Amino acid sequence: MKIARSRAELDALLSSYRAAGQRIGFVPTMGALHEGHLSLVRLARENADLVGVSIFVNPTQFAPHEDFDAYPRDEARDLAMLEAEGADFVFLPRADELYEGGFESAVKPGAAAQGLESDFRPHFFGGVVNVVYRLFEAVKPDAAIFGEKDFQQLQVIAEMVKAQGLPITIIGAPIARDDYGLALSSRNAYLSASELSIARMLNRVLFDTAAAIRGGQTEEEACAAAAERLLAEGFRSVDYVAVRWGRVLGAAWLGKTRLIDNVPIF
Ligand code: PAJ
Repeated sequence: MKIARSRAELDALLSSYRAAGQRIGFVPTMGALHEGHLSLVRLARENADLVGVSIFVNPTQFAPHEDFDAYPRDEARDLAMLEAEGADFVFLPRADELYEGGFESAVKPGAAAQGLESDFRPHFFGGVVNVVYRLFEAVKPDAAIFGEKDFQQLQVIAEMVKAQGLPITIIGAPIARDDYGLALSSRNAYLSASELSIARMLNRVLFDTAAAIRGGQTEEEACAAAAERLLAEGFRSVDYVAVRWGRVLGAAWLGKTRLIDNVPIF
């Protein structure tokens, strides 16, 4: 597994791949890897000849009061996991090089970014498209894999790629869950044992909400009931439970940890 920490190192290894006509599948991450990330690496492998992963905790998608400093970082562990999974290269850009010339973004999020996450994290998708566009420019992948866990993010990126006319196939990967259905997340590391058992109710409530809608309950009623139930289960607050793209999506807080998840209705 090759490692690039600068654009020069990345360009050198990419040109050797390009010369051999290899198709590159790319998985952008912020590290603190878990089985969900590894499932994206496997999906990339099925859709390309070579798999590259980036690890970069992107400052522009965190608001000042959010967990940028506390975000879990363990590069040695991440690299060992990627090596074991058979990734071909890892790009670990430095912030000053990736954002050389300033934080201004060449691209803006489109309509998919409206509402849901943006109502609670207004800076978020601006930062995501900013960094993903820069990463795409650097890696120039043929395909890129994003998890359905962050369903709105997947839509925002697919929309951005289309709007920019980038020759990159965006592939969505199913949500990896633990034995209790909890969507795997780097932020689950923040949860105490008692919070973890409450966290595991989020997916149940969303699956039940999807079933209620299938059973004929209105979306409004079902989502309002879901928010009530999350509070009753012990969530501190609920940012939203809503229906879009044929899915029930939810975001809720346990202590200082914000969890998101979504499930298909049909
Ligand atoms: P991060 O949270 O590290 O997630 C990297 C990728 O892994 C995303 O596409 C995310 O949807 C996917 N992922 C995370 N947990 C998953 C799970 N349980 N099942 C399936 N996929 C999962 O998302 C980001 O980083 C950043 O916003 C990024 C796109 C890298 C831009 O900075």
